[in-house]
Amino acid sequence: MADLGEGQSVCVRVQGVEVLVSQVHGQFYAVHAQCSHAAQSLAHAKVRGTQVRCPLHGARFDIRTGACLAAPAQAPLARFPVFIEAGKVCIDIE
Ligand code: FES
Repeated sequence: MADLGEGQSVCVRVQGVEVLVSQVHGQFYAVHAQCSHAAQSLAHAKVRGTQVRCPLHGARFDIRTGACLAAPAQAPLARFPVFIEAGKVCIDIE
């Protein structure tokens, strides 16, 4: 994940949980990579700017906060704390 550049996103599995990790304006963000509408994986979803679009029905979420921005989803994505340790991006999914 050290190669995750500005404006890029990647889906990783952390302790069995799919997590979408993104870098936006120098900050790293991590959200659950599973749509809150019908549990579609967001592993291959399109990320544009600060938004990820669910490939199944088109709901959109803010990758910084997990907030739901467009129906049919209503609930936000879970957001996980991200911290840098020894130059590596670490995600706390507890
Ligand atoms: S499963 Fe994502 S919008 Fe329906």
